[in-house]
Amino acid sequence: MKSRCKICWVVSLVLLLALGTLSYVFVVGGNTEPHADGRTVVLLTADERNKVLAEMRGLLETVQKVIDASLDGDMDAVATASTAAGMVAAEGESAALIGKLPLDFLSLGMGTHKAFDELAQTAAGIDDPMVVLGELSGIMTNCVACHSGYRLGIQGDDREN
Ligand code: HEC
Repeated sequence: MKSRCKICWVVSLVLLLALGTLSYVFVVGGNTEPHADGRTVVLLTADERNKVLAEMRGLLETVQKVIDASLDGDMDAVATASTAAGMVAAEGESAALIGKLPLDFLSLGMGTHKAFDELAQTAAGIDDPMVVLGELSGIMTNCVACHSGYRLGIQGDDREN
């Protein structure tokens, strides 16, 4: 009886370790592979990749609009453009896509949307474009950090699409 229980414990421990390792690989690591250029490739379906890249072009547009509105001293326009790139922009992301993103990628991405909501709040409360540009520059360290660490690829079963 005693030794049987000991085996139970060992088996449980092994299963727990396997589960922990798998969770770590999928949750923290995401669906990725290394690339020769030193970055990590996040592997998505062709549709998911198109959607992420469209979202990226939206972010670039937001940056341009925020700079332009700051030059005009138009804080309302800063707030409008920033809000559009805030957490609302992340709504409707599919669970399948989120599951493929490494944790670090996900937190940089969500941090960027959250920071645009904060910028909208800043713009609502001040009249100084330099403060807006300073905060925008801070947000853009996220763009730089993520782009230097990651690129997108098409996952194996979707490569021919
Ligand atoms: C969480 C990671 C992440 C963040 C944050 C991020 N990007 Fe990206 N972005 C990527 C990846 C990955 C690509 C694809 C690069 C590749 O495959 O070489 C990309 C591509 C792009 C592209 C090219 C789009 C296309 O159609 O090819 C633009 C423009 C862009 N990002 C702008 C931005 C701007 C501006 C910001 C910040 C406001 C930003 N990104 C923040 C990950 C990120």
